Amino acid sequence: MPTTIVVGAQWGDEGKGKITDILAENADVVVRYQGGNNAGHTVVIGDEEFKLHLIPSGILHPNCTCIMADGTVIDPQVLAQEITGLQQRGYACENLRISCNAHVIMPYHRLLDGLAEEARGKGSIGTTRRGIGPAYTDKTARMPCPVRFADLSDAQRLQDIIADQLAQKNVILQALYNHLALDPEEVFQQVWPSAQMVGKYATDTRKIIQESTQRGRRIVFEGAQGTFLDLDYGTYPFVTSSHPVAGGACLGTGIGPTAIDEVTLVCKAYTTRVGAGILPTEAADDAADQLRDRGQEYGTTTGRPRRCGWLDGVVLRSAALVNGATSVAMTKLDVLDTLATIPVCVGYEIEGVLLDRVPAWADDLHKVRPVYEELPGWQQSLEEMREWAQLPPAAQAYVEKIAELTGVPVTMISVGPRREQTIFGE
Ligand code: IMP
Repeated sequence: MPTTIVVGAQWGDEGKGKITDILAENADVVVRYQGGNNAGHTVVIGDEEFKLHLIPSGILHPNCTCIMADGTVIDPQVLAQEITGLQQRGYACENLRISCNAHVIMPYHRLLDGLAEEARGKGSIGTTRRGIGPAYTDKTARMPCPVRFADLSDAQRLQDIIADQLAQKNVILQALYNHLALDPEEVFQQVWPSAQMVGKYATDTRKIIQESTQRGRRIVFEGAQGTFLDLDYGTYPFVTSSHPVAGGACLGTGIGPTAIDEVTLVCKAYTTRVGAGILPTEAADDAADQLRDRGQEYGTTTGRPRRCGWLDGVVLRSAALVNGATSVAMTKLDVLDTLATIPVCVGYEIEGVLLDRVPAWADDLHKVRPVYEELPGWQQSLEEMREWAQLPPAAQAYVEKIAELTGVPVTMISVGPRREQTIFGE
């Protein structure tokens, strides 16, 4: 696996943290290429559970260089908390590197995210309210120049940028949202203690990544969220503001597509979504409740209950194509252990026409009718199984269906949260 991108096939929360953590065991470098603390990874090692929002799960492997690259957005207050939490548990974080160019989420971004959501009313996106959209908006707007990670080490520079930003933001806050203006000095004081702590991690991460690929070091690129939350390829406008798809790994880190060897598509055995937007295979209440309870489908970041539904083969096939997947890692297969039969969506019907991939015009998704195949359940626990041959035939058939729908081999099957609860190969 010299260079592998790990990308979510659905709407995020596929269990990428565990898969990255397993791959990180043999990796020299783990890189997060987009997103911010809207993400949440839970990694279980032995009896210890780690919930990470910003820092890639590679941080738990001290010999692995752990990078947050140019395409990420970073809230210094959250980062400082996360580093302190890890240090208290014996992880020094000396292997952490952060791009000097990563954009910084400031308190006014969080405020504006919340105010915009309130103003949208029933049409809200259901964002995590972590300031992600407003921070990426400032990045693309360019002027006045927003805070970037390297700015955090220079008090005067940071103060000047905050003043420039608030000259504009205060007009918006007052005129559009009828909100009090923010005081630049107060904002600075809010951020400065964390900025002082995290600023030292700023560096030229492009150089580290480019040199690592040239030397053939093993690199894992970790995508946050999932394919259908991608700004271009997701269910727009109910998406995040960055590019989780595999192409985002090049944009967000400074390497070209020819430097990538493998793309592992992480696919949960059923479908979930948080926030608003279409979910074609959303299950009826009872079935959704059962999936949510067994799968503990509550947001790692916001604690929100996730909407739950059946596996959507059309979504998976489209994700395999848009990401150029070379393998599939299937997670949470054990959550389906109790079901007698399991519906799998194998196509969409729209006005009498059968579709095998997600329509490009997201509004058409509201008109599709999922076509289901009913697969037999296995009704026994998979949690202690460690080899393909141990899996009951019905579970094997379910996995093979995923390989058939995506056209990509399933090389990892996760049957529980712990590292060892993983079956390799088919
Ligand atoms: P934002 O990224 O906070 O702007 O939220 C935009 C949409 O993406 C909302 O529907 C969020 O619930 C969703 N979202 C953002 N991050 C994640 C994630 O890590 N997992 C699942 N959904 C996410």
